[in-house]
Amino acid sequence: MAPPKYHIFVCANQRPPGHPKGCCSDRGGMSVLQKFSEVLNLKMAYDRMMISSTKSCLVPCQYGPVAVVYPDGVWYCRITSEDVEEIYQSHIVEGKPVERLLLPKEVFG
Ligand code: FES
Repeated sequence: MAPPKYHIFVCANQRPPGHPKGCCSDRGGMSVLQKFSEVLNLKMAYDRMMISSTKSCLVPCQYGPVAVVYPDGVWYCRITSEDVEEIYQSHIVEGKPVERLLLPKEVFG
């Protein structure tokens, strides 16, 4: 069995309530993660993508929920579960990242 073409890491980091940085979990990261898993199973897209959650912060917390798609190194920000089907169809199936959800380039300088 060949490895999937894409590996998607979804930030599911959880910080204590009141933490100044907040966290992706509190911004909806868990529902994004759940939706990616649903799409994976519904589309039986096992050859196309693999989904992993990160229990540690991916850094740009204020833009959360954050996900990164490898091997492209494409970062998505402020994703909602409603965006997941579009990311799947446009990026994972058609190879075109969803521009409106891209993390601003200046975040990583
Ligand atoms: S908590 Fe998700 S990027 Fe920091």
